Amino acid sequence: MSVKTVLVTGAAHRLGACIATLFAQSGWQVLCHYDQSQAAAQALAEGLRAQGHAAHALYGRLADEAGCQALMVQVRARTDQLHALVNNASTFWPDTGLDFQAGAAAHQLQVNLIAPLLLASQMARDLVPPGQEGCAIHILDQKVYNLNPDYFSYTVSKLALERAVALQAQSLAPRLRVCGVAPGLMYLSGPQTRDNFERAASANLMRRPTDPQDVARSCLFLATTASITGTVISVDNGQHLVPLPRDIMFVVDDLLKGIQP
Ligand SMILES: NC(=O)c1ccc[n+]([C@@H]2O[C@H](COP(=O)([O-])OP(=O)(O)OC[C@H]3O[C@@H](n4cnc5c(N)ncnc54)[C@H](OP(=O)(O)O)[C@@H]3O)[C@@H](O)[C@H]2O)c1
Repeated sequence: MSVKTVLVTGAAHRLGACIATLFAQSGWQVLCHYDQSQAAAQALAEGLRAQGHAAHALYGRLADEAGCQALMVQVRARTDQLHALVNNASTFWPDTGLDFQAGAAAHQLQVNLIAPLLLASQMARDLVPPGQEGCAIHILDQKVYNLNPDYFSYTVSKLALERAVALQAQSLAPRLRVCGVAPGLMYLSGPQTRDNFERAASANLMRRPTDPQDVARSCLFLATTASITGTVISVDNGQHLVPLPRDIMFVVDDLLKGIQP
């Protein structure tokens, strides 16, 4: 049986590294994309190869169209067929609806929205041979089902990407299935302290942080389940069912006062 290949963007650290590792351990050849984190991405790929898996690190600037195209040229040099793409890379810059700057917002929209859509459409055009099919998975955020005004342009980018899952599934069928995974809080981000993270990550129905392994397993499930397209899976311990007026990191103390064990 031929080996399947997956491209994971932003694979050097955190969730991307977790997804890349799970696919590699499941027998996939993994292309680990990086931008700034060359050493970490190469170390990840070398570590996976040392364990007998197929893995390579690929550089790509997702902040512009040429960078996205150059990344897919490198993918093409490695393989004739891409079976899965996990669009994990993302910026997470703070702003609000009142103070957002057009340039910074456009950058976030490019990296978090346009690049994932572009990579998926290039994959459908150039890396899925006629008669074959692939799967693109966009990593979203539980925020898209639980709106608050913090991280305004980040949220706008993920909202648009969430809506684009169904739209792109319609556009790219039957070559590509397009799915989404919407995680809850997994890692310390932005101005959070460790203490704030520990409390905020448990402010959900199950009172525990989202396990990145569960998000990775959901990606693998979507990539290997042929009947699913145009669908998003929430992997967030029910965080999207706990409405909040602001990002959890800013209101966790008030929230926990109201939740008794
Ligand atoms: N962290 C959480 O708890 C959480 C919660 C909900 C949803 N999510 C979503 O889950 C995904 C992973 O989250 P994370 O916290 O693990 O991500 P992260 O560490 O914030 O970022 C992942 C990678 O994105 C890449 N990236 C950023 N700007 C880029 C650019 N201009 N060009 C190319 N690559 C770029 C970076 O690669 P380099 O380091 O190589 O530059 C970075 O390592 C994201 O889509 C995020 O929105 C995260």
